[in-house]
Amino acid sequence: MTGGAGFIGSNLVRHLNAAADDAVVTLDKLTYAGHRENLAGLAHPERHTFVHADICDRERCLAVLAEHRVRAVVHLAAESHVDRSIMGAEEFVQTNIVGTQRLLEAARAHWHALGSDERARFRFVHVSTDEVYGSLAPADAPFTEESPVRPNSPYAASKAAADHLVRAAHRTHGLPVVVTNCSNNYGPRQMPEKLIPVVIERALAGKSIPIYGDGEQVRDWIHVDDHCRALVRVLEAGRTGEVYNIGGDCEKTNLALVRALCAVLDRERPRADGASYAAQIAHVADRPGHDRRYAISSAKIARELGWRPALAFEQGLADTVRWYLANGAWLAAVANAEHREFMARQYGG
Ligand code: NAD
Ligand code: DAU
Repeated sequence: MTGGAGFIGSNLVRHLNAAADDAVVTLDKLTYAGHRENLAGLAHPERHTFVHADICDRERCLAVLAEHRVRAVVHLAAESHVDRSIMGAEEFVQTNIVGTQRLLEAARAHWHALGSDERARFRFVHVSTDEVYGSLAPADAPFTEESPVRPNSPYAASKAAADHLVRAAHRTHGLPVVVTNCSNNYGPRQMPEKLIPVVIERALAGKSIPIYGDGEQVRDWIHVDDHCRALVRVLEAGRTGEVYNIGGDCEKTNLALVRALCAVLDRERPRADGASYAAQIAHVADRPGHDRRYAISSAKIARELGWRPALAFEQGLADTVRWYLANGAWLAAVANAEHREFMARQYGG
């Protein structure tokens, strides 16, 4: 698993570590977004190995694949924050495009060196995003696997480029790949510079809650546990060379989502003055190139692999808020200097 010390990766490591007998090797560079704390307290630590490495280091990746006789790669490592990609795209090109290509080359060399049975079973699952499909108008049908790729942010463009390289590794070299494109994840251990943890942290700190533009942008929210279960199904039974879209079937405007979050906070940790946290909502300058609406059809993965989102949004959101309230120490630990500097640049002092 690349990127296993990040938000989705660490949730997937935890899921596999608790539910399956397989050993997992996490390969992670530990950027500002990767944290060893995310992998603390695993149910079966003896079945997990952490390797501090960069996916851009092809030789190191190959050595790790060979040493652990890896039978499947789940590739999550990426620069993942749209706002950071607007400030500077260099790291996004380096990790998301160059890094993915180097990892593909390492995986191909490893795959070739396997015996015929292991070679037949090998899988490379590339975890991508619905943002590669661009933006929808209010009445448009949700994205499908056949939707044109029209990325609008440097982040989305770098992920789309990676998706193409993964496809090319399959079509040209036969590498058994599967690509997934998922919608907005929420849940425990998400860096507090994405919308939901930003709102929770700033609301509790008595700061303004920043809504970009009019707040009528729509995102399709999925709990990270549902995403992890989908990835496991893809690992088990996804057809090579195929793309599977994964969504929560849960479209919300940003304003509706933030108001729902404030209502949960009002119940769980009422403000001293009795007012709602919603009073702290403040509209700020819009994100450049802000995609208006994402919605994604999970019909293919439901039909072929029997996966559907299982967690109700209201329950998942309340659980998530309670997790952040109970884990102030985690929030403090992940707020490294790079994160604090970004927050100051993005939101002012
Ligand atoms: P994240 O930013 O929380 O974690 C990224 C992880 O990758 C970190 O642990 C980081 O240290 C590691 N990493 C970064 N560059 C690396 C490099 N060069 N070599 C090795 N490790 C490196 O990201 P996330 O939100 O968990 O997203 C994980 C993946 O899922 C990404 O590929 C992202 O594009 C995709 N995705 C995310 C969402 C979402 O809503 N968060 C939705 C769909 C798809
Ligand atoms: O759709 C999947 C994508 O979801 C993933 O590929 C990305 O890795 C992930 O970061 C996420 O991207 P978004 O840009 O949709 O997520 P973010 O949490 O940054 O923003 C969600 C929405 O909220 C978006 O419309 C911008 C808005 N927003 C965000 C922040 C951080 C605000 O209005 N205010 C904010 O302070």
